[in-house]
Amino acid sequence: MPTHNNHQYTAHILATGSYLPRNQVSNQDLVSLLAEKNIETSHEWIYARTGISFRHYANDDETNTYMAYMAAQQALNMANMSAESIDLIIVATSTPDHLFPGVATSVQHKLGIKNCCPAFDVQAVCSGFIYAMSIATQFIENGSYENILVIGSEVFSRLLNFEDRTTCVLFGDGAGAAILSRASSNETQGIKSCVLHTDASGIDMLCAKAHVKNGSIVGEPFVYMEGQNVFKMAVTRLEEVALKALTQANLSTHDIDWLIPHQANIRIMQGTAKKLGLDLNKMIATVEYHGNTSAASIPLALDVAVRDGRIQKGQNVLMEAVGSGFGWGACVIEF
Ligand SMILES: CC(C)(COP(=O)(O)OP(=O)(O)OC[C@H]1O[C@@H](n2cnc3c(N)ncnc32)[C@H](O)[C@@H]1OP(=O)(O)O)[C@@H](O)C(=O)NCCC(=O)NCCS
Repeated sequence: MPTHNNHQYTAHILATGSYLPRNQVSNQDLVSLLAEKNIETSHEWIYARTGISFRHYANDDETNTYMAYMAAQQALNMANMSAESIDLIIVATSTPDHLFPGVATSVQHKLGIKNCCPAFDVQAVCSGFIYAMSIATQFIENGSYENILVIGSEVFSRLLNFEDRTTCVLFGDGAGAAILSRASSNETQGIKSCVLHTDASGIDMLCAKAHVKNGSIVGEPFVYMEGQNVFKMAVTRLEEVALKALTQANLSTHDIDWLIPHQANIRIMQGTAKKLGLDLNKMIATVEYHGNTSAASIPLALDVAVRDGRIQKGQNVLMEAVGSGFGWGACVIEF
């Protein structure tokens, strides 16, 4: 297993940003929408099973690129940094605007960056931000780059089947960004560990299997999920990977100030925190207001907690995520 012990430099989070689409959709809005199709749901069912009350849906002008750009701009403002100082852009997304080029390329264009920095997308669905952070960390640790823009941006509303009440109530849109930078040599803060896993035996349990052939969409362009199987797998895998990331960081759960789980379902989030023995007051939860925004969920929650002052410099933050694939991962960060 790779460790972060033999690196030249340390990567730390310099700044964060986020963007939520203007259109906030309540559970009651979905009750009305689904009623038009003679499908029953209720605020009570959705809230009790998932912890979700609201999610945001992007309008046509709020493309994946636009949301990613807005989140990036906020992070650049917080860092007081010009876009030209960015030397790598990684966007975690499974809902890009186009088949190609990737969202990261379009973000470089929108930010007006002319320095020819590399820009690419990472497609690891709900674990995407953890995967992107892990990649960025290694580029900083080995000295390749100094300032990396890592973004999670998703428009899952475009993949929702509003005839399937078991999935359409869960997801929302949004973007979150973090600037990862080389820490100065006297700083202790930084990314302490990142652990990634994939087990393709669950490949058919959570997927959107459409593809394009001869100008037509072939297969189902909607989220398909076996909810209960995903639920069971999630709680087990998240505990395992969180403990592994803590071990690699030479920390224990007692050292963790904040847990930022992937915001899929409050019961999975609380279940994992309890298994880890973490006080629920130490968990950053935005799922009630954002729903599941896939790769955007962790950077969105991170930005909320940084801006409201909960996460402070020097505190230890544990991030964990699981999603389609199944892929899962965790990072430990001294903020
Ligand atoms: C999707 C999920 C909320 C469903 O909850 P659940 O407790 O497993 O519910 P079930 O699928 O067993 O369904 C129970 C009943 O509620 C019904 N139901 C499902 N969705 C409903 C909705 N939106 N409104 C009302 N009833 C609903 C089902 O049809 C079923 O009815 P039945 O008993 O008459 O057949 C849950 O499985 C889950 O959260 N899974 C993990 C999802 C996740 O986080 N995925 C992303 C990972 S990245």
